[in-house]
Amino acid sequence: MSKFCIPEYYKELPEIVEIIQNPEFQFMVNYRHHGNVDCLHHSLSVAEKAFPIAVRLNADIISTLRGALLHDFYLYDWHDGAPGLHGYSHPYSALREAAQRFDLNCIERDIIKKHMFPLTPFPPLFRESWIVCVADKISATGDYVEEMKRWRRPAHTQYQRL
Ligand SMILES: [Fe+2]
Ligand SMILES: [Fe+2]
Repeated sequence: MSKFCIPEYYKELPEIVEIIQNPEFQFMVNYRHHGNVDCLHHSLSVAEKAFPIAVRLNADIISTLRGALLHDFYLYDWHDGAPGLHGYSHPYSALREAAQRFDLNCIERDIIKKHMFPLTPFPPLFRESWIVCVADKISATGDYVEEMKRWRRPAHTQYQRL
């Protein structure tokens, strides 16, 4: 389990502990997400990025963290096939799976359901949902950039200087 870089106070709250200690949440380490990153570490990263924004915007921090941790709780590896078009369908899968295991408030439900906006048509209703929507895109972009840095163009394909 990676270290989860938010203040200890929040990590020890029962609302957060019940998620990060959930075996199915931890099993997300086995589902590949973007590039070289798995779903567990992606979700932790989104929560870490959302946290300071939530503090700055005086948002509901616990709901922001819970929604961020669960926003991709769809519990399958989309590289092996997904029910429907993954990009569009996984917020609904994640919400269904999360709601079966955790008692979610309306903010947390909205965070999970709307985090792919504008790919999915309905915009977030709450500032916490906007925060996670943005944090998710920052995190995913960072994952892709890291992946591209690992690419090495073979010497024979280097562009010739004219
Ligand atoms: Fe997602
Ligand atoms: Fe995500």
